Amino acid sequence: MNYEILKINIADRVAVVTISRPSALNALNTNFFKEFNHFLDDLEPREDVKVLVITGEGKAFVAGADIAEMVHMNSDEGYAFSTFGQRTFDRLEQLRIPVIAAVNGYALGGGCELAMACDFRIASKLAKFGQPEMNLGMIPGYAATQRLSRIAGIGNALYLILTADTISADDALRIGLVQKLTEPEMLMEEVMKLASKIAANGSQAVPTSKRIIRTGISMGFQEASEMEAVEFGKQFNDEATKEGMKAFLEKRKPTW
Ligand code: CAA
Repeated sequence: MNYEILKINIADRVAVVTISRPSALNALNTNFFKEFNHFLDDLEPREDVKVLVITGEGKAFVAGADIAEMVHMNSDEGYAFSTFGQRTFDRLEQLRIPVIAAVNGYALGGGCELAMACDFRIASKLAKFGQPEMNLGMIPGYAATQRLSRIAGIGNALYLILTADTISADDALRIGLVQKLTEPEMLMEEVMKLASKIAANGSQAVPTSKRIIRTGISMGFQEASEMEAVEFGKQFNDEATKEGMKAFLEKRKPTW
């Protein structure tokens, strides 16, 4: 597929996707979702890619769903637009490998929802976050009503969605929406360092941890702990786990 909106770079076990429609502050339209799903189709079976990074080109990460596309929609089309976006973000969240949002600027509406479907968010100190849909007389449509309360707590979700306030990167860090801030010019360097650190682990421990954290959150505690124990046991069949422990005892770095 010839991508018009996505720029993709894969090197050293890390894939970086840059959303590039800066004239519309990278607003998410149907073409974006088609391209992004196609990219995920290609990425999912690849064993050589260990971490995915998503960022935006220009002054926005993503300024929301494309209002110019939504303005013409009827109710059925609005429902389809919402479910297409939700399914895509669910797919991203369930990706086997970790996904880091490198939030370079505005992450508003659908942009904040995209960042929340990533596993964690590293942001420029100049980034801005919010769910400003209320200003358009609408509710969020890519699952902010569900993910924001799970990430930042119900009070913060209600506050952000009902006020439509845009908050600073510092405030996003304070409420746990963001995990780390960087100087704007250092964002990609810091994110790539983190991505390389995670990608360097050669065992199944990274994807397994992601899967059980993500699935466990909607299970009962005992059932989820049992899942952890089962996975903990399984890893003793994994050569990489054995190598990790042996290397520690032999005071050397593991060879993965
Ligand atoms: N959809 C479509 N186009 C958008 C857009 C969006 N979400 N956000 C920005 N643009 C376009 C603007 O229309 C403008 O286009 P033109 O140059 O052709 O006029 C261009 O991007 C640059 O934007 P501004 O001139 O507005 O830039 P600014 O620096 O003055 O303001 C901003 C930046 C505060 C982010 C402002 O653009 C803004 O408020 N954007 C809309 C944010 C928003 O409401 N997002 C939620 C969308 S609804 C949603 O996401 C629903 C959902 O959950 C599914």
